[in-house]
Amino acid sequence: MERIDPARIPQRILYTGAKMPAIGLGTFGSDHASAELVASAVRSAIAMGYRHFDCAACYGNEKEIGEVFEEAFTAGTVQREELFVASKVWNDRHGARDVIAACAETLRDLRLDYLDIYYVHWPFPNYHPPFCDVDERNPDSKPFSVERFMGVWRQMERLVDMGLVRAIGMSNMTIPKLEAVLPLVRIRPAAVEMELHPAFRQQELFDYVKAQGIEPVGFCPLGSPDRPERDKTPEDIADLQMPEIVAIAEAHHVHPVLIALKWAVQRGQTPIPFSTKEKNLYSNLRSVTEDPLTDAEMQILAGCERGNRLVKGQVFLWPGASDWRELWDEDGSQRYWEQG
Ligand SMILES: NC(=O)c1ccc[n+]([C@@H]2O[C@H](COP(=O)([O-])OP(=O)(O)OC[C@H]3O[C@@H](n4cnc5c(N)ncnc54)[C@H](OP(=O)(O)O)[C@@H]3O)[C@@H](O)[C@H]2O)c1
Repeated sequence: MERIDPARIPQRILYTGAKMPAIGLGTFGSDHASAELVASAVRSAIAMGYRHFDCAACYGNEKEIGEVFEEAFTAGTVQREELFVASKVWNDRHGARDVIAACAETLRDLRLDYLDIYYVHWPFPNYHPPFCDVDERNPDSKPFSVERFMGVWRQMERLVDMGLVRAIGMSNMTIPKLEAVLPLVRIRPAAVEMELHPAFRQQELFDYVKAQGIEPVGFCPLGSPDRPERDKTPEDIADLQMPEIVAIAEAHHVHPVLIALKWAVQRGQTPIPFSTKEKNLYSNLRSVTEDPLTDAEMQILAGCERGNRLVKGQVFLWPGASDWRELWDEDGSQRYWEQG
């Protein structure tokens, strides 16, 4: 199997001083790739030089991935300290004491003593069953509340104190939500996961987290062509078919996927592309170690912004909410939050 020397992969330095490889492997099988298939991709990825893995309890494959980690440590393919492993607490584990128990389960499943980072997956306790339809609503869903979120974050901080996680992070946040919670935290988030691809750059949020010394980690970096049906709408744009990206890909003699990845790493975010195919895993990793985009190409790609959010989160809406935009504070206000 072809291999990239991990020393060639660009690194981000978290405010904690820890290094995070600037490209990771996503592990969400999007309702179509089985846990075994994703775990097998992780096995190949470790062998070819990936060192950053983006896991989550709700992806339903941490046990299988844990077996692969253990096998790699036992075989001496890689040492624990060489890996950067992320996981996330799912929305149904936001209750008092639930977060610590959820993290302990994840550690047991992944067969690790600690996580490099643990994210709050969504800032709501709103749970939906796997494979659910986009119109499905959970009557127990609730709008964002600072108080509820801080109840979760206090447990995340405790996990750092306990030595179970090296850093903590947030995901699917907005600037108003970050502005409300950052002054209240004792331990700051080291990274924030957000949707980032050429047609959805979230420039303001990106600049905001960078200015706060927080690393942006970009999900759906390829525009998530195989995302679940519930996350698709007819207006969505396919990033990889945008003429600007296709033209730059032709100039570099590569697939448009690789242009999206080069762009992401050069812009300063950490993409976490998913793949189960060895050929794609390898070309994705290799792409960020060679043949960079020119300033002119980066400029052209900056013009691809279309405001095209793919993971809209409709299934997380609460009774009384009517539009997925209410999840994202698009008018910059707190009007859809639960006050008090
Ligand atoms: N925090 C959150 O709320 C959140 C939300 C969504 C996603 N995520 C994370 O972000 C990760 C990535 O997002 P994503 O999985 O939705 O989408 P993505 O990485 O944008 O796209 C993945 C798709 O691209 C294809 N692909 C990958 N490399 C390719 C290549 N070189 N050539 C052609 N096709 C290629 C893959 O197919 P093949 O398997 O055929 O290669 C796969 O279907 C997830 O796995 C998950 O870890 C986090």
